[in-house]
Amino acid sequence: MGKRGAVVWLTGLSGSGKTTVAHALADELTRAGHLAYVLDGDRLRDGLNADLGFTPADRAENIRRAGEVAALFADAGLVAIAAFISPYREGRDKARRAAGEELFLEVFLDTPIEECERRDVKGLYRRARAGEIAEFTGVSAPYEPPLSPDIHISAGSVEETVDRILGLLAERGVIA
Ligand code: ADX
Repeated sequence: MGKRGAVVWLTGLSGSGKTTVAHALADELTRAGHLAYVLDGDRLRDGLNADLGFTPADRAENIRRAGEVAALFADAGLVAIAAFISPYREGRDKARRAAGEELFLEVFLDTPIEECERRDVKGLYRRARAGEIAEFTGVSAPYEPPLSPDIHISAGSVEETVDRILGLLAERGVIA
């Protein structure tokens, strides 16, 4: 079908806006005639990764599988939009290698934890602070920010973020 696939990898804390941006981006790409698919923690952990929890080893395996699946989607000509906390640099770098440097866009949603916690969409920060959830990213488990993401988002609307990603996809020749 003459389409070039890619992996857009969204990383950031829980509540940083990954899922919202992912679906807005998928909508825009679909409107423009591209195949796009959102892979996120909730979807993968429901099925493929149902055997994994949130220990460092389980997160590493979660991201390893996600990275390999995203690379396969890209190979099939889709834009795979991966929305995972993916707290470790090593895991994100592995995902980059699986997809290939040129076809991998790491997007850091650098939303301060105070804002994520204020939103607390799923009520998980409150539970983590109350000690009901162990190893919660940003509270009792680490997050290693990207050192040189392809796109670093520290402010702006969802639309502006989506536009920046679309701009880079165009630069890389993935979309017209
Ligand atoms: S990752 O760390 O392995 O990349 P992933 O993105 O798949 O995480 O899943 C994160 C989602 O799982 C969060 O948005 C939240 O809804 C839920 N969750 C449940 N327990 C935890 C925890 N201990 N730390 C972070 N997120 C958790």
